[in-house]
Amino acid sequence: MSLKESYQFCFKMGAAIPRHVLKDEPVLRHIAQEYDSITCENDMKPENLLDAEANRKEPERYDRSPAVTFEKIDPYMEYAKKNGIGMRGHTLVWHNQTPRWFFAKDYRNEEDAPLADRETMLARMESYIRTVMTYVQQKWPGVIYAWDVVNEAVVEEGLRESFWTGTVGQDFVLQAFRFARKYSDGSAALFYNDYDTFLPWKREAIYDLILRPLLEEGLVDGMGMQTHLTMETDLDEYEKSLRYYGALPLQVQITELDIHNTDPSEESMERLAQRYESLFDQLVKARKDKAADLTGVTFWGLQDDMSWLTAFRKERSYPLLFDGQLKPKKAYYAVLGAAEK
Ligand code: G3I
Repeated sequence: MSLKESYQFCFKMGAAIPRHVLKDEPVLRHIAQEYDSITCENDMKPENLLDAEANRKEPERYDRSPAVTFEKIDPYMEYAKKNGIGMRGHTLVWHNQTPRWFFAKDYRNEEDAPLADRETMLARMESYIRTVMTYVQQKWPGVIYAWDVVNEAVVEEGLRESFWTGTVGQDFVLQAFRFARKYSDGSAALFYNDYDTFLPWKREAIYDLILRPLLEEGLVDGMGMQTHLTMETDLDEYEKSLRYYGALPLQVQITELDIHNTDPSEESMERLAQRYESLFDQLVKARKDKAADLTGVTFWGLQDDMSWLTAFRKERSYPLLFDGQLKPKKAYYAVLGAAEK
């Protein structure tokens, strides 16, 4: 049985995919066999949807309604539709991979260009969210089942300072979800997504700063726990966070799962398998205990040699269920086994 077949009683199984796999038939067959969800690793982020050329060529025309191009995401949507695979929309509002010119007066590209005012940026935010959501709802109905409306807005100091807080202000998260709720046709659940959610301070800060205000206005449907783990991550704290968010009237999804591991030896890959098994034991138990409305688990990558971690950590990482030749590792069988218990 494949990952999606083994877990169809529980939750969707997904993977984040880069653009180049869309040209690789054997990999596309592998994806359709193992997963019932995909996420664009990068191509659905603002830097890849905002039409830089059009906006900067005619800033007056697009000042409050930025031009958007969908050429990069259509091939993913077509593949997903054809294969009956769902998609997570990642991500509408983020401090990263959103070009600075998008926040500048007249979309000017100089590093020190003056920023647009709150009213202009609210108009741009609303227009961007409306344009993107309406496009996928009309051209690709039923494909996107979840949106990461806002990504990674919480740091130890509180709300992360970004061009969003510097232009719209401290209420940019609330505004983004109000627009997403306004333009959603109800086919996709609206998520807040963040990393390190297993840290006690962060799980509470996310609730206080983000989820509680959104829940008070009925604007949020789910919490995305990215789940970028290491071999040392405290899984007891992880389980506490899973059940903390599970106790809220929200879906929970694991949105970017990987477990950083720098040692490809037999023994190390056995330990990686054990950690994946422990994690999936928690996930399945939380689902069976109805301690969390867990509706999806997405791996952040298909195979070890495609993982973002190697570049990010500046050391080779072996974090996923499949090796560099897309061969199943011990961790793959451990995850399958956790479904059988
Ligand atoms: O597209 C350019 C290419 O033209 C250029 O030649 C190349 C070399 O500079 O860079 C390419 O862009 C890279 C992009 O991935 C596409 O491959 C960027 O440098 C690189 O920084 C970017 O990394 C992505 C990272 O987000 C950026 O923040 C990773 O692939 C992606 O896996 C990662 O994903 C994020 C989630 O969206 C949010 N949660 C954390 C997660 C890991 O950082």
